[in-house]
Amino acid sequence: MQIQHNISLKPYNTFGIDVKAKQFISVTTITDLKSIYSERREVSKFILGGGSNMLLTKDIEALVLHINLKGKHIISQTEDYAFVKASAGENWHEFVLWTLDNNFGGLENLSLIPGNVGTSPIQNIGAYGVELKDTFYSCDVLNLDTLEIETFKNSDCKFGYRNSIFKQEAKGKYIILSVVFKLTTNNHVIHTNYGAIASELEQMQISKPTIQDVSKAVISIRKSKLPDPNDIGNSGSFFKNPMICKDAFVKLQENFPNVPHYVVSEDEVKVPAGWLIETAGFKGKSFGNYGVHKKQALVLVNYGGASGHDILELSKLIQHTILRLFDITIEAEVNII
Ligand code: EPU
Repeated sequence: MQIQHNISLKPYNTFGIDVKAKQFISVTTITDLKSIYSERREVSKFILGGGSNMLLTKDIEALVLHINLKGKHIISQTEDYAFVKASAGENWHEFVLWTLDNNFGGLENLSLIPGNVGTSPIQNIGAYGVELKDTFYSCDVLNLDTLEIETFKNSDCKFGYRNSIFKQEAKGKYIILSVVFKLTTNNHVIHTNYGAIASELEQMQISKPTIQDVSKAVISIRKSKLPDPNDIGNSGSFFKNPMICKDAFVKLQENFPNVPHYVVSEDEVKVPAGWLIETAGFKGKSFGNYGVHKKQALVLVNYGGASGHDILELSKLIQHTILRLFDITIEAEVNII
């Protein structure tokens, strides 16, 4: 276990923001993680996973712990289900591909999401009609008070839209060490109801898709809409899709009859933030070395060399404009550090 000093965090965040960590440890074992906590109780720490859902706006003074725990395996397998476990530091998409190679179903719609397994439950990652909570069985966590390992079952995690207990009351109290998923081995449930998937499969001339076909369709859609963080720095959707009350929606629809929306409950409607941002005129706008992605307005991008502060200011400008034009508050999905 080696402490590095004053290192750039640019390779560790998908936005590609060049801030420094005063002290940095890449943690590869749970034993090391426990000893860091027991020996450095009073040192403030900053937990870094895949760095795919954060905007770094300043140097990190705390000790940065890069959770680099590796390993994945099948715990048990029956005729219908497989329980698989992956350590927190496994790359999410590589893990999804591994489950598909084993012909285990459930994660195919979540293909190509950046980040690591260990951070996936925190915001209950979701895409194309599926959320992590649909296959999440449990996770092992390190309790940072007691340094004991505890298990959180699905129902303990209080999953919601881009939300979980780890963003709320359990925030900062645990480190997720590994996640167990319950996947299908047979009778896979294919989710193609999300519009773009069905049309993508049609284009691929596939009428009876396998889980691998669905994954390919999702990868193709994501590649066509979302920038690859290896080419253009970004953190996926920067904002959450806002939920508004029915009355507010009726008013919005009077002014914008074509507003896309999803009815969530009797009095709640979800409106795509991407549509609001595009309608406000921001889609594809560039402000020098940062801006709004040209194919998906929900994604803010760093073309290279932008600071976290620049992007934060742009996000505030977008929020204020949406509030002024539509009377809707949009919240950041990414963590602002
Ligand atoms: N839209 C526009 N303009 C845009 C983008 C979107 O008008 O520039 C409208 C369109 O009407 C479109 C609708 O918004 O039909 C929905 O767009 P899209 O299918 O791209 O999905 P999204 O709601 O913008 C969410 C997730 C994505 C996820 C996709 C697909 C959130 C915050 N984002 O985006 O997740 O990939 O659905 O399921 O819920 C992420 O979290 O980082 C992420 C990329």
